[in-house]
Amino acid sequence: MQSIVVLVSGSGSNLQAIIDHIEAKKLDVNIALVLSNRADAYGLQRAKKADIASKVIEHTQFDTRELFDRAMISVIDTHRPDLIVMAGFMRILSNEFIEHYAGRMINIHPSLLPEYKGLHTHRRVLADKGSQHGATVHYVTAELDSGAAILQGRVPVLPGDDESSLQQRVHRIEHVIYPEVIEWFSQGRLSNRGHQVYLDNKRLDRPIVIDQTESQN
Ligand code: GAR
Repeated sequence: MQSIVVLVSGSGSNLQAIIDHIEAKKLDVNIALVLSNRADAYGLQRAKKADIASKVIEHTQFDTRELFDRAMISVIDTHRPDLIVMAGFMRILSNEFIEHYAGRMINIHPSLLPEYKGLHTHRRVLADKGSQHGATVHYVTAELDSGAAILQGRVPVLPGDDESSLQQRVHRIEHVIYPEVIEWFSQGRLSNRGHQVYLDNKRLDRPIVIDQTESQN
């Protein structure tokens, strides 16, 4: 069975979605470790409740980003994961860390990349009066939110939406697409060679899209 390490900084609802899929036997991976840079991350409690090993490495305890990242690497590597899953891990990573896990680290970002890289995506989509929004699962590369995209979930922006309602709709689609990508990985269907993503040995020139813009959920 493939083994993953999940990195969280906050609520960990994406971690929960992965745990739920495993418990429902829809996803066959072992979560070897949940690692957080914050001791108060609720994701740690979710790990504990599911009997998953967890660890806190507080970035505030390190003088530089590089030292913090090296401490993470030394902990992560003792678990020999096949995939690193960033699930709301809100730290910029050093190039050393990214290189170390090149081609075996994925992230979920709350936008239809390459649109709306960075923070406050829901607010920015509303300010721009966008008609659609969503989330993207992508491989992590040195340039922020720019690695090859694997799967996107697209949702509508509805009349009357505020930041919170839009965020909730995006979260719901995140909880569908992240376990799906991890399932592809666990089944050996997904690979990353030379910055190119392959699904079932076919090169993905653009991400697969789950489009919910027609449904009013
Ligand atoms: C998710 O919406 C995820 O897309 C976002 O943080 C949230 C974490 O939620 N990630 C980023 O913004 C990364 N740039 P969660 O802790 O409930 O899974």
